[in-house]
Amino acid sequence: MPQPNAANVNSIKIVIVGAGSVGVTTAYALLLDGLAADIVLIDIDQNRALGEVMDLSHAAHFAQARVRVGDYEDCAAAAAVVITAGVNQKPGQTRLDLVKTNYALFRDVVPRIARHAPDTILVVATNPVDVLTHAAHHLSGFPLERVIGSGTAMDSTRFRHELGKHFGVNPRNVHAVIVGEHGDSQLPVWSLASISGMRLADYCKAAGVAYDEAALEACARRTKEAAYEIIRRKGKTNYGVASVLVSILQPIVTDSDAIVTVSRVGTYGGVENVALSMPCKLNRHGAYQDVPLLLSESEQEALRQSALSIKGVLSSLED
Ligand code: 2OP
Repeated sequence: MPQPNAANVNSIKIVIVGAGSVGVTTAYALLLDGLAADIVLIDIDQNRALGEVMDLSHAAHFAQARVRVGDYEDCAAAAAVVITAGVNQKPGQTRLDLVKTNYALFRDVVPRIARHAPDTILVVATNPVDVLTHAAHHLSGFPLERVIGSGTAMDSTRFRHELGKHFGVNPRNVHAVIVGEHGDSQLPVWSLASISGMRLADYCKAAGVAYDEAALEACARRTKEAAYEIIRRKGKTNYGVASVLVSILQPIVTDSDAIVTVSRVGTYGGVENVALSMPCKLNRHGAYQDVPLLLSESEQEALRQSALSIKGVLSSLED
């Protein structure tokens, strides 16, 4: 992915709402990546945010960016506002268990951002991310392309990591996506997974390795269960998701048309007005689904089931 040049980064402001572990790790990753000149952290707990900013400012010394505590008016003219605020999963909880609390928070936060930054791009990381991407779209009144959920960009990264380990290939050379819900109904797109330009079965034949379906299914299962396992062991996830957020911000800031699997409101598998992840082209105007994904019939049905499962949660919020 192209790095931003100094000229455009000089004027880039990115606001992060929520100074919890995902928010501050994202701020740190942004600093190291040199993607913004001005990084603003907003949190209801100003004291905590200030402590984080003091610490981050010492890292900023090596990175030439400014990190500061802000309020919603500081969202004005931000290239993107990343929302990480909200309660996290506890061991054993699903992402959907968080919905009522985090939806209430979005009702407060999103209109405030939209008032001060009507032209910004919202990047939602708070879970359940698909439901809250949908909520952020409605609460902000922004067009579809300017409300992006981190979605299965995280799962796709984990999937490529798992497949890379299985095949002994660098994950950067594995092309494979997880689409649908960032959660239990997600689906791996086996029909389009490839290594070195070859579909997996062809790669196995050419490389003389076994196409072991059970082992591949285990890769997808470990991908889906990764967050549960990490949360069981350390109580949260932060590094993976923060890096994924930076990979979403990068094409927005650099206007580079990268294709990333992110969540966006649309019609999926015939289910209207729902948000879930599909590969999107990202640039300074937001996320575009220019190219339809050629799914197999069974994958189309699995996508529809994923959309219906998210839609079910959305309907329960309207009750
Ligand atoms: C993750 O997948 C918990 O959604 C968060 O890391």
